[in-house]
Amino acid sequence: MAKVKLENITRQFDRLIAIEDISFEVPDGQFWVLVGPSGCGKSTILRTIAGLDSATSGQLYIDDTLVNDLPARQRDVAMVFQNYALYPHMSVADNLAFGLRMRNVDKAQINGRVQEVARALNIEHLLKRKPKQLSGGQQQRVALGRAIARQPKVFLLDEPLSNLDAQLRDDTRAELKQLHDRVGITTIYVTHDQIEAMTLADRLVVLNEGKIQQIGSPQAIYAQPANRMVAAFLGSPPMNILPATFADGNFRLHHQSIPVPEIIKQQLKPDRGQNFELGIRPEHIFTASTHSTSEQTASVIVEIDLIEPLGKEILVRANLPDSNLVVNFSTPAQWQGKKGDRLSVELDLAHLFVFEPDRGQTLYPIY
Ligand SMILES: Nc1ncnc2c1ncn2[C@@H]1O[C@H](COP(=O)(O)OP(=O)(O)OP(=O)(O)O)[C@@H](O)[C@H]1O
Ligand SMILES: [Mg+2]
Repeated sequence: MAKVKLENITRQFDRLIAIEDISFEVPDGQFWVLVGPSGCGKSTILRTIAGLDSATSGQLYIDDTLVNDLPARQRDVAMVFQNYALYPHMSVADNLAFGLRMRNVDKAQINGRVQEVARALNIEHLLKRKPKQLSGGQQQRVALGRAIARQPKVFLLDEPLSNLDAQLRDDTRAELKQLHDRVGITTIYVTHDQIEAMTLADRLVVLNEGKIQQIGSPQAIYAQPANRMVAAFLGSPPMNILPATFADGNFRLHHQSIPVPEIIKQQLKPDRGQNFELGIRPEHIFTASTHSTSEQTASVIVEIDLIEPLGKEILVRANLPDSNLVVNFSTPAQWQGKKGDRLSVELDLAHLFVFEPDRGQTLYPIY
């Protein structure tokens, strides 16, 4: 087991800076998740830790040893790639056993490990097959199994569940979490799926355009996003972001106004005409049938644009009339509304976020 530390890691490809000044330290045994939109540099960070790519500058430590110049095979890390490559001529069982054979582990022990991993990932019935006789999702589980079987110092997993169907993804995710609780190998996991990120992580590292936006526990980041990007990235459906202008004690949203809560006024001391962006999560918007229990709400009129029934609830996309400001919210399954309806919804102002409109820094709440 090991801790992993990145210090000011930058990787540049010609003129493109893929990752910039990345620093974080994963303590021994923890499960960290790198999350962010496509192209933000997640795989580049993972490949750099694995030794498959080298940093342009910065230091990388595994257990206090500087490993920048240590070849990949000497780092004792196991990586599952985004495009998992299995050994095509070997059976599933041999693929799983490969890493252990390379280390001269004895045969009985290898067989035991292979069975155990295959059982955990539900691929026991596939052990005799070759990779080309497997579906994409099955291959992905074998790739994951190959890494797990080896019990390295560090696991590096790059979107290891992306090819599984929804049910299998949920099951395998739970299995991974239990496995980590059992063996406690330091894990760095890459995903752009925010549900995976929220459910698996001890700590999240949120990335955008090659830079770290925020590091923290999933709950802390959800409750206190550092900026608009983080706020809008975590949460499904995403947080609503609405441009607003301050005047006469109100935020003006297009042609409507909502009162600015006293605490926000005190903290921001807004000037007349000053622009902001307001953030409100869909779960903090209520209709007549759901009613908020909050004491601080404000009503706005919206026009229904799209209705998406999910079974247990309905997602509604609406807009402020005659504007392109979108408001997403959810309602109970029995709600009856249709496209084009205008209705009043309540915003729970106790859960209002305020962002600086240019760079998107969170102005409120600041903890
Ligand atoms: N070998 C390379 N040469 C040039 N540019 C590269 C190379 N590898 C990655 N990049 C660029 O670096 C940036 C980060 O890529 P990276 O693969 O790390 O993103 P990612 O966060 O893993 O994205 P995704 O979620 O799509 O897998 C991208 O703009 C990508 O085009
Ligand atoms: Mg990637």
